[in-house]
Amino acid sequence: MSFKRRFKIFSGLSAGVILLFAATLFALPEKSIHIDRFIMPDTCGECHTKIFEQWENSMHHLAHKDPFYSRVSQFFRKGLKDEAEIKEAESCVKCHTPVGVLTGFPKKVSDDLSKTPEIATKGVQCDYCHSAETIKRMYNNGLVVKPGQGEDDPGVKFGPFDDAEPDFHEAQYSKLHTESRICGTCHNVKHVVFGTDLETTYTEWENSPYNSKDPKKALTCQGCHMYQRPGIPATGSTLRPENPGSATDDSVERPHIFTHFFVGANALVPGKFNGENKNQMAIERLQNAAVLSLDTSLVRQKKLNITVTNTGAGHSIPTGVGDLRQVWLEIIILDKKNQKTFQSGVLDAGRELPEDAVAFRTVFGDEKGKKVINIAKARKVIEDSRIKAKQSVVKTIALPFVPQKGSIVTIRLLYRSMPRKILNMIPGEPFEPMPVVEMAKVQKRI
Ligand code: HEC
Ligand code: HEC
Ligand code: HEC
Ligand code: HEC
Ligand code: HEC
Repeated sequence: MSFKRRFKIFSGLSAGVILLFAATLFALPEKSIHIDRFIMPDTCGECHTKIFEQWENSMHHLAHKDPFYSRVSQFFRKGLKDEAEIKEAESCVKCHTPVGVLTGFPKKVSDDLSKTPEIATKGVQCDYCHSAETIKRMYNNGLVVKPGQGEDDPGVKFGPFDDAEPDFHEAQYSKLHTESRICGTCHNVKHVVFGTDLETTYTEWENSPYNSKDPKKALTCQGCHMYQRPGIPATGSTLRPENPGSATDDSVERPHIFTHFFVGANALVPGKFNGENKNQMAIERLQNAAVLSLDTSLVRQKKLNITVTNTGAGHSIPTGVGDLRQVWLEIIILDKKNQKTFQSGVLDAGRELPEDAVAFRTVFGDEKGKKVINIAKARKVIEDSRIKAKQSVVKTIALPFVPQKGSIVTIRLLYRSMPRKILNMIPGEPFEPMPVVEMAKVQKRI
């Protein structure tokens, strides 16, 4: 029996054993894969030039190096005493440094991360996603990844084509790669001990109208996020034209090549690593995600009705780390003389958002239901006021007075990746200001 064949049987058996335990939340210690089996993204980029350039400095490439992630995860880990909380705070590397975890180092956040092997610092990368065979659970990164034996024997790369015949590596059609599930297993995060839903992007999509049996309505994660390119935001409310071209510099022309920018809403971090175009693409995505409408018919009763509709996202707005992301309404009323008579949701001099702003978010609580900011302590979801896909939320604003005739009401829906208050708690070099992006705006004269 050849080594490869024996290896296949062995890994088949171990996958079976792991499946038996899949129902438990605790990750079993898995056998490490030798790091030399993974191939550097740069090597893939020698042929897949454009795809490499798109992925480079994307949030997937930066998942390990992202200074916001690194500093927040170290901050959350510090000072914990509870066993269960420590377990969660150590687990972040599973998605942010996945090649490291699979190949043995780092295993936890408190490891000496300066010793992380170079390939593992490259975050969510080519050979990780394209060596993924199956999924063992739909949260906390359940990808079963079987890379080849390194550059001399790269093995099979799975993708959307059933007729690709590259000579460097083998290629195989994989249904999984065409489905939202391949994204969802990392984009659904549960507390490793308490089971609290910390991120639910996949579940939000699964429960949305985009997860439809009708092919005219169905839209996967890839259908928006892997159609985007500069100037083409590819959201639910815009056209999503195909991207004709070829997968390498000299292979066949195909009607659509999936783009690999993996842009969400982060308009700061890619730019810190020469990925300015991705900051701009995040802004374009946010500007095509939601619409606002304002009803002033009850203004005599000192009321404004504001409707926010999620027209462009395939999940809630905000999604992902909904406890950190800030999406809120800024409301300003100016009288006829241009004097401000009312404001809500205006950042203060320290760039903090006032507590009473109308915000859309998730809030986590401890066992008593008291708000916590450290996800390691999150035992419950105590608030989820986000705007679901294709749904509207109406907010009624009580005004302290009846605005004069001729006043102008301006409402803006704003986005910021992280609250100033939390960034200010993190020791060390102060963080630079985060961009505030205007997602939508409406203005009306009373
Ligand atoms: C997060 C996982 C992920 C990462 C990282 C990733 N890809 Fe992909 N890639 C996909 C998926 C998923 C598809 C297919 C999308 C579909 O069919 O809906 C794809 C498609 C492809 C294809 C087929 C051609 C096309 O684009 O349509 C090639 C080639 C490819 N990727 C190469 C790469 C290279 C090279 C890198 C690194 C520079 C990379 N991928 C990084 C997930 C990933
Ligand atoms: C020597 C050139 C070369 C290198 C290096 C290379 N590829 Fe490819 N790859 C190709 C060619 C050619 C195709 C076929 C393109 C087509 O048919 O449109 C391809 C196809 C693919 C596909 C699509 C497979 C399918 O069936 O859908 C994926 C995924 C892929 N490569 C990933 C990778 C990854 C990951 C790496 C790095 C580990 C890599 N490639 C390195 C040349 C290369
Ligand atoms: C191995 C786990 C993993 C897989 C698989 C994965 N992602 Fe991600 N993704 C991450 C992590 C971790 C981040 C966050 C990095 C950061 O912000 O530090 C991320 C970030 C993103 C972002 C950027 C978010 C922002 O704030 O701008 C988008 C968009 C995204 N992923 C889409 C996808 C899509 C689409 C797929 C499937 C084709 C996918 N991801 C598959 C782990 C994964
Ligand atoms: C209908 C188009 C569409 C689909 C389908 C879609 N997204 Fe998005 N996504 C968006 C838009 C628009 C935004 C920007 C608004 C926002 O942040 O929600 C976004 C933002 C994101 C972000 C960044 C969120 C943040 O605020 O940091 C991530 C991560 C993400 N998407 C992942 C996914 C994953 C994973 C899937 C599939 C389960 C998916 N998306 C499906 C349109 C889509
Ligand atoms: C199951 C996979 C997974 C695990 C485990 C995980 N994350 Fe993430 N993380 C993600 C994804 C996916 C995103 C992108 C979501 C978004 O953009 O809102 C993300 C984004 C982040 C961000 C936002 C980064 C930025 O630049 O805006 C921070 C901070 C973060 N994670 C911290 C943590 C910490 C701390 C832990 C461990 C306690 C952790 N993550 C564990 C998948 C994971």
